[in-house]
Amino acid sequence: MCGIVGYIGNKNCVPLLIEGLKRLEYRGYDSAGIGIIDEGISFIVKNKGKVSELQNRLEVLNLKANIGLGHTRWATHGIPNEINAHPHQNEEGTLFLIHNGIIENYKTIKKVLQQNGYKFQSETDTEVLAHLIDSFLRKGFDIFKATQLALQEVDGTYGLAVIYAKEPDRIIAARKGSPLIIGVGQNENFIASDVSAVLAHTKNIIYLEDGEIALITENDYQVKTIHNEEVIKEVEEISMTLDEIDKGGYPHFMLKEIMEQPESLRNSIRGRLLIDEGTAKLGGLENIIDDLLDVDRFLITACGTSWHAGLVAEYMFEQFIRVPTEVEYASEFRYRNPIINKKDAVFFISQSGETADTLAALRETKLRGGIALGVCNVVGSSIARESDSGVYIHAGPEIGVASTKAFTSQLIVLALITLLIARRKNLSIENGREIAKAISKIPDQVAEILKLNNKIEEIADEFKDAKNFLYLGRGYNFPVALEGALKLKEISYIHAEGYPAAEMKHGPIALIDENMPVVFIAPKDATYDKIISNIQEVKARGGRIIAIASEGDDEIKDMVEHVIYIPQTVAMLKPILSVVPLQLLAYHIAVKKGLNVDQPRNLAKSVTVE
Ligand code: G6P
Repeated sequence: MCGIVGYIGNKNCVPLLIEGLKRLEYRGYDSAGIGIIDEGISFIVKNKGKVSELQNRLEVLNLKANIGLGHTRWATHGIPNEINAHPHQNEEGTLFLIHNGIIENYKTIKKVLQQNGYKFQSETDTEVLAHLIDSFLRKGFDIFKATQLALQEVDGTYGLAVIYAKEPDRIIAARKGSPLIIGVGQNENFIASDVSAVLAHTKNIIYLEDGEIALITENDYQVKTIHNEEVIKEVEEISMTLDEIDKGGYPHFMLKEIMEQPESLRNSIRGRLLIDEGTAKLGGLENIIDDLLDVDRFLITACGTSWHAGLVAEYMFEQFIRVPTEVEYASEFRYRNPIINKKDAVFFISQSGETADTLAALRETKLRGGIALGVCNVVGSSIARESDSGVYIHAGPEIGVASTKAFTSQLIVLALITLLIARRKNLSIENGREIAKAISKIPDQVAEILKLNNKIEEIADEFKDAKNFLYLGRGYNFPVALEGALKLKEISYIHAEGYPAAEMKHGPIALIDENMPVVFIAPKDATYDKIISNIQEVKARGGRIIAIASEGDDEIKDMVEHVIYIPQTVAMLKPILSVVPLQLLAYHIAVKKGLNVDQPRNLAKSVTVE
């Protein structure tokens, strides 16, 4: 979703803003723009399309300035075009601002402003903010106060930054619902929607909280609430490195992230596995473990790929912890008046830790007295900070829009959580050891599967022109079928459905013919015989079958067109292995179709609006 970067200091901000915007491209966007102040005059340059186009235009203009803002827009209100791109200005062009989020009452505000003579250029909700702040400037308030007063009238969400040419020594930044950080430097300060935009320049970060507004100058910053209460902020030093957010020689972030899964999985389990005791050690849950042993129910809410991880966890929790578990889309959960009480523990799984629906579901849970537990990747993200307790997955920065390594790390961390709680309940030490040992082997087993990359690329070549795909799995591998289908549709735009294999008979079987590739996730487990019957059913109808099967399964070879073998492990961990070939298959198909794998059309990495 929209990316925000801003600079004030002793350097020329234009290349810094472009560099920051490039770092934010991964979030997904459709237009880009910058605004600067040079000798008291503001300049705005913006366009539909890529940051590189903006950069080319700026090179010709050769602008220089010590203060400015940059923005990548992901359209919500109004089509992607130059007029709707940010920054937006007041009528006299002295004020400009950039915004991430949605101003929900913008129509009401716009009507009042129009009655007062304000003229609007764009279709965006954001433009009302420029004129609303201007209306307070006209009453004689300074830019900080005018922004504060304007925000008091606004419903909705914002990560926001404002510059006013008549007070050119300051950036005003505010946050409600959309992340915003201040990067603290030497004789320079930054603002950004996430740390990757400023990491090359500083690791000292201040996280703004909802309802806070900051006044940032070259050498100082001051934070208050929008109701003018003082706030003391701590500067946190982050450990992320630039290497972690670079492509490292791979053609795409997605491939790099798929290939680094052995390492990311190792990082997820490092120091957390107690093999001899057959359990796990998770610092983030220590203070709450006794409560977790006593809950009546687990709930899991999330969106997208993280929701698929939640579905796998449902199988894990019910099999080993033996506590009823429900999984729900965060967007549904938050609006259906959920029944939650203090003996419900609710897990919020989120790579970014910023997904608007998941964050809202978390707040709803806390309001109703449930135990809120975050399972996040991004350290210091909103969900991580607002949860009662939680566990970081430590997958490292994930830049490709289609989630890969975060998914496998979520699964391995959910397995650790299962092991920890189950062992404190009634899982025997022998069974605990078996699972712990199996977890410890997973990173190397994933490395083995990655060696099949060339073979999977060949399969991709054969199927790249298919119009539809069906993914089928049972038990633990049903969510993998959903995830395999999601990966393919996200980046290749091929229609794909994931289904529980047995359910196929109740509908999708009608679609099967010689043009329909069907991917079966069929490792040896309790449902193996049944899935073999499902394979026969597809074969009988001429469907083309690709199977993910367990090493040593020779029987399946004769039934299907292609088999990709994965190593043996316990059932609960099979999804971590079986999903890897599906990630590679989707990746190669999309590359062969010539598509932008890292920034697929219409998608955003971190969905910070509802
Ligand atoms: C977006 C991303 C998906 C992701 C989902 C949930 O749709 O494109 O890859 O799975 O959001 O994101 P989260 O950060 O909460 O895991």
